[in-house]
Amino acid sequence: MEKSRNSVILFLFYLSVFYPQTEVHSFATPSDHDFGCMKFVYNATDLPSEEVYDYIVVGGGTAGCPLAATLSVNYSVLLLEKGSVPTAYPSVLHHDGILTTLTLEDNGKTPAERFTSEEGVANVRGRVLGGSSMLNFGAYSRAEKEFYAESGIEWDMDLVNTAYEWVENTIVFQPNVSRWESLVKEALLEAGVGPDNGFNLNHILGSKVTGSIFDNEGRRHGAVEFLNRADPKNMRVAVHATVERIIFSSNESSLSARGIVYSDAQGKSHKAFVRGKGEVILSAGTIGSPQLLLLSGVGPKSYLSSIKIPVVHHEPNIGQFMRDNPRYYITILPPSPLVFSGGQTVGITKDFYIETLTGPPFSSTPFSIFPHPSIRIKINSTFGHIVGKFPGPSSYGSLTCKLNIG
Ligand SMILES: Cc1cc2nc3c(=O)[nH]c(=O)nc-3n(C[C@H](O)[C@H](O)[C@H](O)COP(=O)(O)OP(=O)(O)OC[C@H]3O[C@@H](n4cnc5c(N)ncnc54)[C@H](O)[C@@H]3O)c2cc1C
Ligand SMILES: *[C@@H]1O[C@H](CO)[C@@H](O)[C@H](O)[C@H]1NC(C)=O
Ligand SMILES: *[C@@H]1O[C@H](CO)[C@@H](O)[C@H](O)[C@H]1NC(C)=O
Ligand SMILES: *[C@@H]1O[C@H](CO)[C@@H](O)[C@H](O)[C@H]1NC(C)=O
Ligand SMILES: *[C@@H]1O[C@H](CO)[C@@H](O)[C@H](O)[C@H]1NC(C)=O
Ligand SMILES: *[C@@H]1O[C@H](CO)[C@@H](O)[C@H](O)[C@H]1NC(C)=O
Repeated sequence: MEKSRNSVILFLFYLSVFYPQTEVHSFATPSDHDFGCMKFVYNATDLPSEEVYDYIVVGGGTAGCPLAATLSVNYSVLLLEKGSVPTAYPSVLHHDGILTTLTLEDNGKTPAERFTSEEGVANVRGRVLGGSSMLNFGAYSRAEKEFYAESGIEWDMDLVNTAYEWVENTIVFQPNVSRWESLVKEALLEAGVGPDNGFNLNHILGSKVTGSIFDNEGRRHGAVEFLNRADPKNMRVAVHATVERIIFSSNESSLSARGIVYSDAQGKSHKAFVRGKGEVILSAGTIGSPQLLLLSGVGPKSYLSSIKIPVVHHEPNIGQFMRDNPRYYITILPPSPLVFSGGQTVGITKDFYIETLTGPPFSSTPFSIFPHPSIRIKINSTFGHIVGKFPGPSSYGSLTCKLNIG
């Protein structure tokens, strides 16, 4: 009796020493990029001028790729993305390319689409299959508890957790923490941003190492890789496919989205429709989704009338409550070179978040990293960048439309 208890204790000891992460499930397996999905990705110019699907998903980004892949298990799905395939711009595939992607001049096709708010704040959004997950710093966290409570949605937490695990097993890695990132974590703890939460995927107060979509070889595993989990016979992806408006049908009692109009790289117009109870789903990003609704006549009546768009449905909140994502920072030029890393260490307090990244020297300014597009900054050595952010500024603005989709 006594003996077997000892062996149980020893076994538990063994587990806790050699498997310190037993409460954390496994993550994605580091591997070369998997672009198996390319067999169902088409250039929009090669698609028919009219087709029918169960679901149409607009915007092949961070949300659109996993959503389309999931729907394809039971339904036929068309996913439309206005940008290119990621292999056309290799800088989006590796950690070393982060700043290169942001220095590429925007020529209408490049993966970082630039925009500047009326106040002059420079920003970018993804324009490539995989969306902004192909440009970002790759830090991964689960949502904070308050998010569920404040969302006004009744979540089935078992489903939410299953979805998190699906995401994490596909593209999330435990980072090999760089010396710089671990020093920043020590500094945060010294400055009182505690406790030390070790490696943790949850958004909780304190300092932690978080998950990353970069594997330990520096390869980016963006949302495009969710498409490998689609059912190839139900899934079709069109790139260089710019959706221009939603087609609605209506009678006295109801209004429903029946399809979309999109244009290809040669400017030719195509239509796609949904059958039966199918849906058109917008996942074109914070700017792209409301932009499409406004151009399709769904938005504030007075605004739509003022720009001569026929009103299909008056919805006063479309395009409202747009917030910037302000950031303050210090840049340190250390005497000896730093290894490139980013988004591994996070300090979380009630009022602000701290993150960090290191980068290579550059002679043309990576757009949106430094405050104003007109300020040209050159850095002649590797640098460390320590960034502070607010959870959500209380000031906001609204989106207005140019009459064509760029
Ligand atoms: C530089 C940078 C660093 C960031 N760092 C982090 C980070 O470390 N961690 C983190 O969690 N978040 C980070 N973010 C934020 C995060 O990447 C975004 O919040 C997230 O990717 C948004 O996902 P989405 O699906 O809403 O939109 P997106 O991923 O942007 O996808 C929208 C897609 O829709 C397409 N589209 C738009 N309009 C149309 C149209 N009319 N027709 C067809 N296609 C269209 C776009 O081309 C795009 O591919 C960062 C963002 C940036 C820009
Ligand atoms: C898509 O087709 C257009 C027109 O045929 C062509 O100009 C463009 O280069 C093609 N793009 C890709 C990625 O094949
Ligand atoms: C697919 O259909 C099966 C059978 O109706 C259902 O159990 C499953 O949840 C569906 N899966 C998705 C991803 O819709
Ligand atoms: C982790 O990083 C160190 C230093 O850059 C490197 O020597 C080591 O091989 C890396 N380990 C893994 C598992 O990638
Ligand atoms: C109106 O359209 C909806 C959706 O297409 C349909 O279900 C409904 O039967 C239609 N009602 C009338 C009165 O035609
Ligand atoms: C970078 O430029 C500064 C100012 O011109 C100079 O003092 C410094 O030595 C340079 N550093 C490197 C690594 O070349």
